Amino acid sequence: MVKIAPSILAADFTKLGREVESIRSADLLHFDVMDGVFVPNISFGFPVIRAVRAVTALPLDVHLMITRPIRYVERFIERGADIVTLHLEADEPNRVREALVRIRALGKKAGLSLKPATPVSALEPYLELLDNILIMAVEPGFGGQSFLPETPDRVARAAALIRRAGTACDIEVDGGVNRRTAALCRDAGATVLVAGSDVFRADDRAAEIQLLRG
Ligand code: DX5
Ligand code: ZN
Repeated sequence: MVKIAPSILAADFTKLGREVESIRSADLLHFDVMDGVFVPNISFGFPVIRAVRAVTALPLDVHLMITRPIRYVERFIERGADIVTLHLEADEPNRVREALVRIRALGKKAGLSLKPATPVSALEPYLELLDNILIMAVEPGFGGQSFLPETPDRVARAAALIRRAGTACDIEVDGGVNRRTAALCRDAGATVLVAGSDVFRADDRAAEIQLLRG
C-alpha cells in the first residue's frame, strides 16, 4: 500500500492546527520549504515545522527547495523533521553527499529530489546514502500545477536503479497527484505520494487520502 503525504503548502494557514487534524489519517506530512532562490517562491520554515511537530505524531517529511541545504539540515531535524529531502541541483556533489551523511548521522531518513529536467541516472552515485528518492512531477516552486506525463517512466527508472543497487529506498512523487495520476505512479513503482491541492480541496479529506492509496 502506498503512503500518502499531504503537502501543508495547500493548507489554510489561518487554521493550521485544524488542517493538520483533518488529515490525521495520512501516513506522513509533507512540508515544501522554499527559499526564493532555488525556486522562484518563498513558503515557510522553522516556526511552521516546530508548530506542527507539537500537534501531530505523524512523521514530518521535509522537502528542501533551498540552495546549499547542508547549512540547515540539523536545524530542520532539531525542529522535528523525520525525513529530510534535498535537491541534487541545490549544491556541489561533495556537499550534497555530506548533507545526506549528516542527516543519517542524526538518525533521520535522507532523501534526494530531482527536478524534471534532471536525469534519474544522476542519482546513481548517491544510492547507498538514500532512504528516499523524490521524483518531481512538476517544476518545483508552486502547488496546483499539472502532472508531467514523463513522470511514470522516471519513477520506473528510479525503481530499476534501486533494484539493481539492492538498497531499500522509498520512491516519492510530488506534484499534480490526484486519483488518475496516483494510479499511474503506483503502477510505476512509487511508494509515497505527495498530494496538496487534491487532498485539501476534497470535501472528505480522509476519503480522498484513502482513494489515493488505491
Ligand atoms: C512544488 C510542490 C508541490 C506540492 C504539491 O514545489 O512541491 O508539488 O508539494 O502540489 P500539488 O498541489 O500539485 O499536490
Ligand atoms: Zn514537495
